[in-house]
Amino acid sequence: MESRFGHGSDARNLSRLQADTMMTLELRAFMLGGTARNLMHSSSPGKTSESKMKLQLRGLALLAVNLLSAARASHAFLAPLASKRLGAIKSNKFPIRLRAASDYEPIDGEKRINFKVDLNQAKVATSVDLPSGEKKVYCRCWHSGRFPICDGTHLKHNAACNDNVGPLIISVPKDKKLKPKKDKVEGRKKRVLWGYRATAIAYLFYSQRYFTVKGIQPFAIQVTSGYVLAAGLAYILASAAQGDRLGSDTYKRLNLVLVEFGLIGILGWGLVKLGGTVPGFAPLLIPPILATVHGVKGYGYGVLGWDKSGDTSMIGDFCKGVKGTMQGYFSVPKSIKAAGYLAATWMMTALKLTKLVEIIQLVVGGANGLTIFTRLSRFARYAMLSMALYTLKDAADRGRLEGTTFIELNFMTSAVLAALSSFAGIANPVGGTAAIFSAFSAFNGILSILKKRKS
Ligand code: FES
Repeated sequence: MESRFGHGSDARNLSRLQADTMMTLELRAFMLGGTARNLMHSSSPGKTSESKMKLQLRGLALLAVNLLSAARASHAFLAPLASKRLGAIKSNKFPIRLRAASDYEPIDGEKRINFKVDLNQAKVATSVDLPSGEKKVYCRCWHSGRFPICDGTHLKHNAACNDNVGPLIISVPKDKKLKPKKDKVEGRKKRVLWGYRATAIAYLFYSQRYFTVKGIQPFAIQVTSGYVLAAGLAYILASAAQGDRLGSDTYKRLNLVLVEFGLIGILGWGLVKLGGTVPGFAPLLIPPILATVHGVKGYGYGVLGWDKSGDTSMIGDFCKGVKGTMQGYFSVPKSIKAAGYLAATWMMTALKLTKLVEIIQLVVGGANGLTIFTRLSRFARYAMLSMALYTLKDAADRGRLEGTTFIELNFMTSAVLAALSSFAGIANPVGGTAAIFSAFSAFNGILSILKKRKS
C-alpha cells in the first residue's frame, strides 16, 4: 500500500531499514552482555593480578566499543523517520504529493495537530474577506496565540521539533484602477457640473452687462435672448450631468448645440479682434470658451461614459447623431404638437441658412469683422433655437413632453421666439410666425406642467 508520503517502494525501504536496525540492536545487546560477563570472569579468583588487570582493561575497552555501537544503532533506528523525511522534504526528493481529501490516509504515527485553538469546536474554519491592498499572515502551525493570524510561534515550534512549518501569507494587490476610477468619475462629474453652472452664470452676467450698456430695447433683448438660451441649456445640462443622463440623445444634442454656440462666439470674437481692439471686449470670450470646453466634455462623457469605457468613438457617435437628426427633420411627425415643433424648427433652420448666406456674402465682399460678427451671432442664435425646437419635436414624437427638461425647453424657446418677434415686429412675417410659435411653446409648457401635476 502506498504511504501518504509517497510511493510504496519508499515505505518498504523504510520498513526494511528499521528491521535491519532492530537486528543490529539485538546483536549489540548480545555483545554487551558478553563483555559484561568477561569483566565479571576477569575478577574471578585463580588469576594472577597482572593477567587480571589485562583482562579487565580489555573488557572495559570492549564495553566502550559496544556502547558506542549500540548508541549508533539506536540512532540509526530513530533517525530514518525524522531525518529521511525531513531531508527528503528539504531536498524536495521525497515524492510528497498533495492528495484529494478522498485519498487521505493518516501517516504512521500521525496525531492531533491542534492543541490550542477553539478546542470545544468540532472544526475550526476561518473565513476572511480581504480588502484590496491588504496583506495578512495566517498561521498554519496551529500554535499562534493570535490564531488565525501568525504570531511567529512557528519559529519556536520549528526549533524545538525540527519542523519546517510556516505561515500562509496572502496579499491582495491594490486595485489601482477601481478606486482611483471611482474618485476620478466623481471628480469629472463635479468639474462638468460646475463647468455648466459657470457657463450659465457667465452668459447671464454678460446679458446683464449688455443690457446695462445698450439699455432694455428690442435689439438688446433679441441679442441677449441667445445668451439667456445658452445659459438655460447649460443649466439643463448641469441637471442632466447630476442625474447621469448625459448619455441620452437629447443631452448629447444639447451639448453639441452649446459647443456650436460657443465656437461661433469665439470665432466672432476673433473676427472683431482682427478688425481692431474694441474696449472691454476681452471678457466676451469667457462665456463661449466655457460653453465650448464644457459642451465638448459633456458630450464626450455622454458618449463614452464617466469612466470613458464606452466603445463608441465620439466621431462615430456624432455622425450617427447627425444622420438621425436629418432623418428626424424629414420624418412624418407623430402628433399635432410634433408637427408644430417641426414647423418651428424648419422656420428657424431657414433663418439660420439665410444668415449663413449673408455671412458668406459679407466675407466675400470684404466686410469688417464687427459686421460679420453680428450676422454670426444671429446665425448662432437661430442654430441653437432650431436645435432646441427639434429636441422638443423629438420629445413630442416620443410622448415625453412632460419631462422637466422639455418643460424648461418649452419656456426657454418661447422666450427667445418672443424676443425675435418683438425685434422683427408682429406685422413682419418672421415676427408674426415667431410670435405664434412662442405662444405654442409656452402653451405646451403649461399643458405639460398641468399634466404632470395630474399624474
Ligand atoms: S504562528 Fe503558526 S505559522 Fe506562525
